[in-house]
Amino acid sequence: MTFARIVATGSALPERVVTNADLEKIVDTSDEWIRTRTGIRERHVAADGETTGDLAFRAGQQALADAGVKASDLDMVILGTTTPDIVFPATACLIQDRLGANGCMAFDVNAACSGFVYALGVANNFVRTGQVKRALVMGAETLTRMVDWSERETCVLFGDGAGAVVLEASDEPGILATCLHADGGYKDLLYNPVGVSVGFTDEKNHGVRIKMRGREVFKIAVKTFDALVGETLAAAGMQESDVDWLIPHQANLRIIEATAKRLGMSMDRVIVTVDKHANTSSGSVPLALDAAVRSGRVKRGQNLLLEAFGGGFTWASAMLRY
Ligand code: ACO
Repeated sequence: MTFARIVATGSALPERVVTNADLEKIVDTSDEWIRTRTGIRERHVAADGETTGDLAFRAGQQALADAGVKASDLDMVILGTTTPDIVFPATACLIQDRLGANGCMAFDVNAACSGFVYALGVANNFVRTGQVKRALVMGAETLTRMVDWSERETCVLFGDGAGAVVLEASDEPGILATCLHADGGYKDLLYNPVGVSVGFTDEKNHGVRIKMRGREVFKIAVKTFDALVGETLAAAGMQESDVDWLIPHQANLRIIEATAKRLGMSMDRVIVTVDKHANTSSGSVPLALDAAVRSGRVKRGQNLLLEAFGGGFTWASAMLRY
């Protein structure tokens, strides 16, 4: 049987760090409120002119270098993002050209915060069927571009960043199961109301801004992760105790803790980067994965459970042997 294996990871963050203390100066909030409600201490914010594609390109370059794979050997470049550089071409096409992978398939996946895990699921199926031997799979966002910096309910939550993995076809186990879901019935709880077909200049909505009913999102995210964990373990034929590391979407420490409890895992087996990165949407899971690999915590042969939840709603998971 052919598996898709992660052979290397990479990541990139903007240089500028905005702390909770910085945000205290622009909205009526406090470091204490942000830390206790979300676990966030700071986030990276893209510089003027620095794009999602710039961050994903750097993350992708690093993953390719660590894998020892030439860009020209890639069969697929795929990017999970909800903040593309321009309307088209897809940001994956812009990155493919910068890397020198011209000719292979390249496209973006918009599944909001689940974008990277969706992209991993899509790439996995291409590899398993033999159509793709090597894929660069990325998740990247510049979500702070659509944050209303005067709205304390949302501006404290988000950050910018990118992560990437190189997937290769292998006889050795790699990705064991993926579960992808969406329910558009929840579209009004977390969304950005402007865009191409409805128009970018809806003054009622004050430009391109995230709208969120946070408390409701929180409750549904916790319940959804609970069900997703069970579904993913069953799909992979595994038990809770088989999971070495939980690498969850980094939106809120309290949501992460609830999922760890469901798995019966202590927090020292959960990768947490939300304190440093805040919610980077599609960037969150691959950034956390890369941090875990680089710090030496995640080792070859270990079982990793990746999961994400976001606007749509969308939710997705992957169980893999690293
Ligand atoms: N600073 C200070 N006070 C604030 C702030 C702030 N930044 N934001 C809201 N408040 C106030 C509210 O106005 C409210 O005041 P009130 O009681 O006088 O009305 C009070 O704090 C409590 O507000 P709640 O919304 O009940 O706070 P809650 O404990 O639910 O935390 C939060 C809010 C952090 C947004 C939480 O609901 C959450 O994380 N939800 C998930 C949202 C999310 O992560 N979305 C991203 C994408 S989806 C995903 O990735 C899972």
